[in-house]
Amino acid sequence: MLKESVQSALNDQIQAEFHSAYLYLSMAAWCEAKNFDGFAHWMRMQAQEEMFHAMKVYDYVNMTGGRVLLQGVQQPDVDWDTPLAIFQASLAHEIYMTGRINDLLGLAMDERDHATANMLQWFIGEQVEEEANVDGICGKLTMMGDNMHAVYMMDRELAARPVPTPPAVA
Ligand code: FEO
Repeated sequence: MLKESVQSALNDQIQAEFHSAYLYLSMAAWCEAKNFDGFAHWMRMQAQEEMFHAMKVYDYVNMTGGRVLLQGVQQPDVDWDTPLAIFQASLAHEIYMTGRINDLLGLAMDERDHATANMLQWFIGEQVEEEANVDGICGKLTMMGDNMHAVYMMDRELAARPVPTPPAVA
């Protein structure tokens, strides 16, 4: 059975993951408006992953006898200057999300809630992967600078991102 403090923090995390999905969808919309179809596709796939993250926590709360209480999702940013600015904002967001997961794991350990800590270990690995992916894209876009031909080649490369599959519940 979930403790109240853990349940509340997990509900906050569900909101944060849905906000992430909304933010990436907003980034996809910007990319589509600017005809960066590959970047837009990558962001759509990222939005789907974030929905899976939200639902993994949602399902876990239900599975452990807790109560999911959905909260409002705040409006995401809608404007950026360049694809590089978008991916830099994405990296900053993932670093923020990593901090949230670390705090959640710290709470679960303080509460001696080993089941929740075990579930959160999946997110620890996932955040390492997400930060590394976005950091790599930022590095390449930074090297390309104003070379729009190179940026469009990158756009085509990111169009190949596969559709994500949902993770196991716990
Ligand atoms: Fe679910 Fe990208 O953090």
